[in-house]
Amino acid sequence: MNAIALRARPSGEFAARLAATQALLQEACARFAPITQASSLGAEDMVITHLLHTLQLPSEVFVLQTGKLHSQTLDLLHTVQTTYGTDRVIRIYEPDAAAAQAFVAAHGEDAMYRSIELRKTCCDIRKMVPLAQALEGKKAWITGLRREQSHARAQVHAIEQPTQADGAQAAIAKVNPLVDWSNGDVWHYLDINHVPYNTLHDQFYPSIGCAPCTRAVTLGEDFRSGRWWWEQEAAKECGLHVVSSTSTSSLRDIPVVATV
Ligand code: ADX
Ligand code: SF4
Repeated sequence: MNAIALRARPSGEFAARLAATQALLQEACARFAPITQASSLGAEDMVITHLLHTLQLPSEVFVLQTGKLHSQTLDLLHTVQTTYGTDRVIRIYEPDAAAAQAFVAAHGEDAMYRSIELRKTCCDIRKMVPLAQALEGKKAWITGLRREQSHARAQVHAIEQPTQADGAQAAIAKVNPLVDWSNGDVWHYLDINHVPYNTLHDQFYPSIGCAPCTRAVTLGEDFRSGRWWWEQEAAKECGLHVVSSTSTSSLRDIPVVATV
C-alpha cells in the first residue's frame, strides 16, 4: 500500500485550511521579500513548493544537502529542479567539506550514535552552518512544520518572530503555512494535485532526514519515531527549529523584521 492510499484522508477543514495557507503565502511573499522556502523534500515541503509554483509566488527554495541524504531523496531533488527550477531559484547548500571530513576522521562515521553531543556537532556542521548561509540576506523563511508532528511542535504558530534569545537561525521571521494541517490533509493535497514525493514514504518513512538518522516505522508508531530513534523524545531536534517566544497567527500583528 503506497503512502497516498495509506495516508490521503482530508479533514473536514481541508478546504478552509488550504485557502488560509494560500492567503498566508501570498501575504508573506509580499511582505517579507526576499523570502525563501526550506525544503527537506518531505511531503509537507512538496506541498509548499507546489503551492508557490501554482500561485506564482516569488520565493526561492533551498535544500540543505547534508551529504548524508538517501538516494531516493536525491532523486526527488533532481525532479524538483527539473519541475520547479524553470520558474524559481532552487539553491543547494552543502557542509564545509574540510569540517565534515575532520569530524569523521576524529569521531568516525557512526559518531552520532555515541552521544547527543557528537550527534549535535554533526548536525551543526552539516545543517546549521549551511542553514545560516541559506538565510543570509533573507527577511523570512518558510518551513513545513506542523503542530501535529510532535509534542515539541505543538505550540508552533503560523508566523514566528525572532527574539534575542533565539539562535542565529531564528533571527528572521519564520512562516509555517501548514501549521494546522493534518497528515491526511498533506497527503490529500499531494494526491489530488499529482505532486511528486519521496518514494521512501511508500516504505513507511513518514518523516525523512539524513540516512544514518532515519528509519522506517511500523503502523501505529509515532510520526517522528523513526528520527534519531536511539535518543529520548526531548532531544529529537537538530537545531533547525528553536521555539520562538513571539508568535502570532496573523501577519497583520507583526512589524517588518530586520534582515540579518
Ligand atoms: S528536522 O529539524 O527534524 O530535521 P523536519 O525533517 O521535521 O526537521 O523538517 C521540518 C522542516 O525543516 C521542513 O519542513 C523544512 O522546512 C526544514 N528542513 C528540514 N530538513 C531540511 C533540509 N535538509 N533542507 C532544507 N530544509 C529542511
Ligand atoms: Fe549528522 Fe544525523 Fe544530524 Fe544528519 S541528522 S547532520 S547525519 S547527526
